[in-house]
Amino acid sequence: MTADEALAAKLDTYVDAHRGEIDRRIFSDPEIFDLEMTRIFSRAWLFLCHESQIPKRGDFFEAPMGRDNVLVVRQKDKSIKALVNTCTHRGNAVCRAEEGNVKNFMCTYHGWTFDLAGELVGVPGMRDFYRDELDKSKYPLRQVAQLESYKGFVFGTFDPTAPPLADFLGPTGRLSLDMIAERGEVEVVPGIQKFVLNTNWKFAADNTFDFYHPQITHISAQAVGMIPTAESLDSGGAKTDEGKSLGVQRLPTDLDNIVMVAEYGHAISGPTRKAVEATGGKIFAWRDRPEAQAALGPVGAQVAGHPHVFPSAWITLGAQLSLRVPRSPSVTEVWWFTFREKNASPEEQKELLSAQIHSFGPAGFLEQEDGENWSQSTLQTHGTISKNVPQQLKMGLGRGKIRHEGGFARIEAPVNEHAQLWTYQSWKEWLKGTSWDDLRERTTPGEYL
Ligand code: FES
Ligand SMILES: [Fe+2]
Repeated sequence: MTADEALAAKLDTYVDAHRGEIDRRIFSDPEIFDLEMTRIFSRAWLFLCHESQIPKRGDFFEAPMGRDNVLVVRQKDKSIKALVNTCTHRGNAVCRAEEGNVKNFMCTYHGWTFDLAGELVGVPGMRDFYRDELDKSKYPLRQVAQLESYKGFVFGTFDPTAPPLADFLGPTGRLSLDMIAERGEVEVVPGIQKFVLNTNWKFAADNTFDFYHPQITHISAQAVGMIPTAESLDSGGAKTDEGKSLGVQRLPTDLDNIVMVAEYGHAISGPTRKAVEATGGKIFAWRDRPEAQAALGPVGAQVAGHPHVFPSAWITLGAQLSLRVPRSPSVTEVWWFTFREKNASPEEQKELLSAQIHSFGPAGFLEQEDGENWSQSTLQTHGTISKNVPQQLKMGLGRGKIRHEGGFARIEAPVNEHAQLWTYQSWKEWLKGTSWDDLRERTTPGEYL
């Protein structure tokens, strides 16, 4: 058995889709983390920034790509390049700022200087020390292999053989980004919120689809009217220590959820627009614009759940995009890009911004509550005994009839764990180092989940 075959066999036991069980080691094993860095984050198309963040020549934004950082730079001809932020002399970062505007990048170690396109244009001591023998053209900054934008969302990949961005995203990934792009003319509010959670990145990623937890985790947010409440929990509901029903509320369930699963691991999961509106949610006015209706299509227009572009970009209903940036098996940086509609009134912009920063980010009500769960779940993956207790993703297992329509593969069902399982099944294929063609085939939805 080759090393890759042994790995594939191990991964098949770690993610058991038939039983709906996950081995906790995938959240703690340093070798798995290394594989994630090389086989997912150095291969997949990754969201880098929005074009509105770098409108002028010389504008740049530093974005994470696995263990590398790239400088996404607006060029003289208005095109965009993404340069790896490491000096080709001795490796120092050539830029220490997270964003800004420059004429060139001068390394602070010995002063090698690179232009906006990454060409080495200045070497201190070129004549006196190097005797004019250094060929500057040989030492440009490295670049991503491919860079493309979808409606202003800039993505990059280190893999020259990756399919075009539009194909990678497919209808489900594109619909996910349309949830922001089709609101009208949008731009990123200056200042990306970044903070650190002691969690494995996958807990934060899969929680995107978890509509089982709000009724418990976010009970305080419900109590203050921040998120909608509906019917009481069923008889299997949570109880106090004395056995009394908590009387907690839940989002509507019966057949009011839509799950979309898609190639390469993208997914959308959560309630329908109708279900959210039934609880008083009024956040969809923008979707009634004819242009938005045309872009979303009849199926997409019903979606009010959470889209997730594999591996780590979550788009919220409130026009934010979050990156879950893995730093180690137990540490994740969370980045929040917050969007505003340029043509909205100042009052409307203020209202949206207030809702955005009160929900997510370091001061966000919801994410503080979520972060506690993820940190504890991560911690328990290290326990001598607890690490051997498999995780369960059995809700709706085997009952998810997939309907193929309009380029989408969707399941209509009560609250379920289909999208989480889909994410881990796809994750497993990425980690096996599967070729692009096979990866696409093996992550093409079938008839049931
Ligand atoms: S490491 Fe950058 S100039 Fe030496
Ligand atoms: Fe949550």
